[in-house]
Amino acid sequence: MDLFEYQARDLFEKHGVPVLGGIVATTPEEARAAAEQLLGDSGGVVVVKAQVKIGGRGKAGGVKVAKSAQEAADRASEILGMDIKGHTVHRVMIAAGADIAEEYYFSVLLDRSERRYLAMASVEGGMEIEELAVERPEALARVPVDPQVGIDQAKADEIVAAAGFAPDVAPKVAAAIQKLWTVYREEDATLVEVNPLVKTGAGDVVALDGKVTLDANADFRHPDHAELEDKAAADPLEAKAKAAGLNYVKLDGEVGIIGNGAGLVMSTLDVVAYAGEAHGGVKPANFLDIGGGASAAVMSAGLDVILNDPQVKSVFVNVFGGITACDEVARGIVQALEILGDKENKPLVVRLDGNAVEEGRAILAEAAHPLVTVVDTMDGAADKAAELANS
Ligand SMILES: Nc1ncnc2c1ncn2[C@@H]1O[C@H](COP(=O)(O)OP(=O)(O)OP(=O)(O)O)[C@@H](O)[C@H]1O
Ligand SMILES: [Mg+2]
Repeated sequence: MDLFEYQARDLFEKHGVPVLGGIVATTPEEARAAAEQLLGDSGGVVVVKAQVKIGGRGKAGGVKVAKSAQEAADRASEILGMDIKGHTVHRVMIAAGADIAEEYYFSVLLDRSERRYLAMASVEGGMEIEELAVERPEALARVPVDPQVGIDQAKADEIVAAAGFAPDVAPKVAAAIQKLWTVYREEDATLVEVNPLVKTGAGDVVALDGKVTLDANADFRHPDHAELEDKAAADPLEAKAKAAGLNYVKLDGEVGIIGNGAGLVMSTLDVVAYAGEAHGGVKPANFLDIGGGASAAVMSAGLDVILNDPQVKSVFVNVFGGITACDEVARGIVQALEILGDKENKPLVVRLDGNAVEEGRAILAEAAHPLVTVVDTMDGAADKAAELANS
């Protein structure tokens, strides 16, 4: 999960990273009140910053200086509702203005291919960092970080030396980097990025912008992370699936997919995409793994999510019975169709194989539901589901 800048700022503050005051606002009036609170301690300057989960806000006009509460309200009313690369601005952060002497860059991220972390730092931070990384890669220091050790004093000193920080700021930057590492480790992040990390006129080092990505696999360790989720932006079907404990990802095709086991579902997506080429280019509408040992109730919860996707034209249920017995799956399908009743009119193609396949097929045959077609092979079923989605 990617965080908004204001959420990253709050996590930074919690772990002792030097930051300036920042207050989130959703209306010009809230922006005015926030500015009134901050202007006193910030040399009479605040910055109104669009809160969207996309880079390049400054260049898009989403970061504006204001020198009074009225100006902050005016800038907020311009920025709220703005579209930044397809992201509508629903919130701004009013940030205390910094007196910037120099802008630096720092990030630490998960380097999957090397099975470790990677820290990057540059004394030439700011809005041009992407160009810098391409045009003069030597100006961006890249220092591997051993996950067993992390960024201790020695590693922080190594990063600071590699990036060529001047002696006056080097110790402060090294201290800030260690605090940012604390954020990374204790919050189970996969990315912590600060651009710019600045030196102020008074010589302090402060994080002026923050990007944090949290690892959802570690959510069980962080019940407090649930409230960081942007509920308004979450896909309603994904939210419904999550509430039902289902492993569901919305895609943009027309063939709903249910299978048991992530590997089987992945290959089902492939065969449906392939079959779809002969049927008007229809594609899979979702990933949904009901897992091993799924009960009839789980099956019907899954079908309920998929059939509520207005883009879905047909559904392919592909189950290889192992721990999940095919008769349970068949009962789940029948049960789900009973619950959904007459309003349901999307065709289902079912392929069952493996444990208790005969019993499963018998249950479907007996129910003889007009929407259900049983096909014996995976390729054949994919072809049928694609054909139905295209008709
Ligand atoms: N609190 C602040 N006080 C003074 N100047 C600021 C402040 N926050 C940001 N700025 C200035 O605005 C520039 C852009 O801000 P910021 O880095 O937050 O946005 P951005 O980099 O354009 O957006 P993104 O990080 O989404 O790409 C900074 O490089 C800095 O010069
Ligand atoms: Mg930035």
